[in-house]
Amino acid sequence: MSNHHLILLFLISCLAASCTQEDIPNCHADEKVLHSLVSFPLGVAVDQTELNFNEAYEQIVSQQFNSITPENIFKPQYLQPVQDQFSWEAADQLVAYCMDHDMRLHGHTLIWHNQLPFWMEQFQGSPETWEQMMKTHIQTVVKHFKGKVTSWDVVNEAIEDDGSFRENIWLANIGESYIEKAFQYAHEAESAVKLFYNDYSLSAKRKKRDAVIELLNSLREKGIRVDGIGLQMHIAHNYPSNNAIAKALEEVWENDYLIHISELDIAINPLGREMPTASTSRLIKQAEKYKAVFEAYQEVPADYQHGISIWGISDRDSWIPSFFGRDDYPLLFDAMYQPKPAFCNLP
Ligand code: G3I
Repeated sequence: MSNHHLILLFLISCLAASCTQEDIPNCHADEKVLHSLVSFPLGVAVDQTELNFNEAYEQIVSQQFNSITPENIFKPQYLQPVQDQFSWEAADQLVAYCMDHDMRLHGHTLIWHNQLPFWMEQFQGSPETWEQMMKTHIQTVVKHFKGKVTSWDVVNEAIEDDGSFRENIWLANIGESYIEKAFQYAHEAESAVKLFYNDYSLSAKRKKRDAVIELLNSLREKGIRVDGIGLQMHIAHNYPSNNAIAKALEEVWENDYLIHISELDIAINPLGREMPTASTSRLIKQAEKYKAVFEAYQEVPADYQHGISIWGISDRDSWIPSFFGRDDYPLLFDAMYQPKPAFCNLP
């Protein structure tokens, strides 16, 4: 009987009797090395301070994953805090960590509307000077990490759910062509690094996915290199459906884009109810959903699998509770860095 069946059986028995903490499928993190059990790179978003100073956190990163995405420190706010003064120290430490641990490094992110330094938000100039400023940022950063970063999120979250362009400083000051220019500048700076467009809700929102694929296809028709699409996959235990996820993955690779499930986390309290602890039934549903995402990804042809990256280590580290102002428990490890059913049940 598969793990999946076991969990279903458990769920049914939970309905008949009340579940106790002891009933939840559990395991010791030391019992397995998750990345060695899947055929694609398995990544995680890391916070540099936690990595440096939190032993339990660091141990999970180095044991369970073979790819890292910097959760924040590769964003413009951190890399170019003052115009033309780049700050490499923390980022270079992470590069060294990846090299020491034989881990892949995915760069996140070159062009976004968020986490920009103050000077960039306030920048004044003609479309040409804006373009030059964007080019300087992209090319300085990409060249600095040449040979060390395997792939970049070149443009992040440029399309709205309805398929229109997101209003941001790049669109306002350069125009729609900022996206193709960003990819072109990144390519000129390094031709070997994989270039990704990254966004959320690409499996849930059909119009958004269509618009992204159409946009990237039109860039390719102009000779611009775009290697892959990052589907962030900030989803919930009950949404979107497994079919919708499978369909989205299929459409992306059928359009010849590498697929990175780039920021996976699975909320169990999407409606923001009071939830001071995670209920057993929700943890089970979460475990099933994580498994379903991994299973859908296994169906993607190997040549198109850039990997799955989880957006954080423990529930204590997740962006969701503070961002949405609610209790939630979206990750594979609990706040005490103990494995949750979702971890035990993978892959
Ligand atoms: O750097 C300051 C620090 O000086 C200060 O002491 C601390 C106090 O709260 O805040 C620190 O900044 C925070 C930063 O994370 C670093 O920890 C910001 O307040 C906080 O807003 C920021 O949140 C990040 C968020 O992006 C910003 O939009 C999250 O950690 C990060 O997980 C999240 O990641 C994004 C992806 O990049 C793109 N896709 C969506 C995803 C989730 O929002």
